Formats: sequence, structure tokens, C-alpha cells
Amino acid sequence: MNKYYKENIIEDIDATLVMNPFFDEWYAIVKDILASDEFQKRKLFWHHHKLSVWDHSILVSFKSFLASKYFHADKKICAIAGLLHDFYPYTWLYNKELEEIDGGIYLSRLDEKRPLFKKHGFTHAKEAAENYIKYFPELEDKKITNCIKRHMFPLNIIPPRYKEGLIITSVDKLNSVRELPSISYVSTIVKDKAIHLLFEDIDS
Ligand SMILES: [Fe+2]
Ligand SMILES: [Fe+2]
Repeated sequence: MNKYYKENIIEDIDATLVMNPFFDEWYAIVKDILASDEFQKRKLFWHHHKLSVWDHSILVSFKSFLASKYFHADKKICAIAGLLHDFYPYTWLYNKELEEIDGGIYLSRLDEKRPLFKKHGFTHAKEAAENYIKYFPELEDKKITNCIKRHMFPLNIIPPRYKEGLIITSVDKLNSVRELPSISYVSTIVKDKAIHLLFEDIDS
């Protein structure tokens, strides 16, 4: 068994979520995804600034699930599509531990030179929508697919078709603003890698 993988999934979920009164209801919906080897590899995918795709996706899923109750949306769609919205197949940030898995296939896009509109920020929503069906075909659903595929609106110009998709794209953006690093850290990055920040690191 690989070191990122845990049988006891709860150990790798933020305690504030686990203690939430709605945690068990959410967990029952997403448990099988969280238990899968492929999804647990997202602990090794950096979302940005040392936050993993695993942590980010769980937060978006749980908050979208909670929002579904308020907005009378489908809680199952919100929980599942929220969890899988960034389930793209290749990492866009280097992590040494990923190099040691499956011959480094997850890092194979890092050195590719791609035109602006083929960069991660523009393409990962569509890739995630295809990748989730590859690994979780039993969950294939047109609403889930649309929520994932359209979550990068307005960077991807077509908006989500369903209420659940609007919830997920909103929660994703609000969450990403909170995850932003400090102003001084951003200043350093902007100084050193302005173009990279603008055109490579577009993700939410
Ligand atoms: Fe995203
Ligand atoms: Fe995201």
C-alpha cells in the first residue's frame, strides 16, 4: 500500500469538518470516492500554496453540500461534483512524491509548452469531467458532468447549466480567495514570476 493511502479516511480530513453535525450525512455520500486509491493520490497534487487538491476538494464538496440545503439544491450532486470538480489527471505543480508513483505519469504535463488557452486554468475543468467518468463510471450523470465541466466559469465562458453548478463554482471561488497566500508572499512571486502567475497558475 502506498504511503499516501489511508484505510482510515477520517484521519486525513480536517477535524472541524469531522465535528460538524452534518458530517456523517455528507460522508455517507462521498465515502467510496474518498476511499479510492486514485482520489487519495490527490493528497500529493498541490492545489496552490501548500494546500492539496485533496483538502481543497473536500472543502468545496462539504460547503457545497451545506449550501444545497439552504438553496434547496440536490445535495448528492453538490457533494459528488464538488469533490470531483478538480479531479484532473495531471498535476500542474511539482511534487517529488508524485514522481515516485506510476513512473511519474502525473507530472508528465509539467514540461509541456502550451498556448495560453491550452493551459491548465482553461482546460482542467473539461479534463476533470472526463477523468471522473474514467475512474467512477458508476457515477456518470449529466448534472455532475456539467457541474464539473463548467466550474471555471467565467474563465471558461459557458456558465453552469444547473443550480448545483452555480453553487459549486461560487463555493470554489470563495474558498480559493481564502486560500490565497499573504500579500508579501504574493509580491515575491509577482516580482519573480509575473507571467507564470498570470498565465500558468490560474486555478480555482
Ligand atoms: Fe478548478
Ligand atoms: Fe477548485
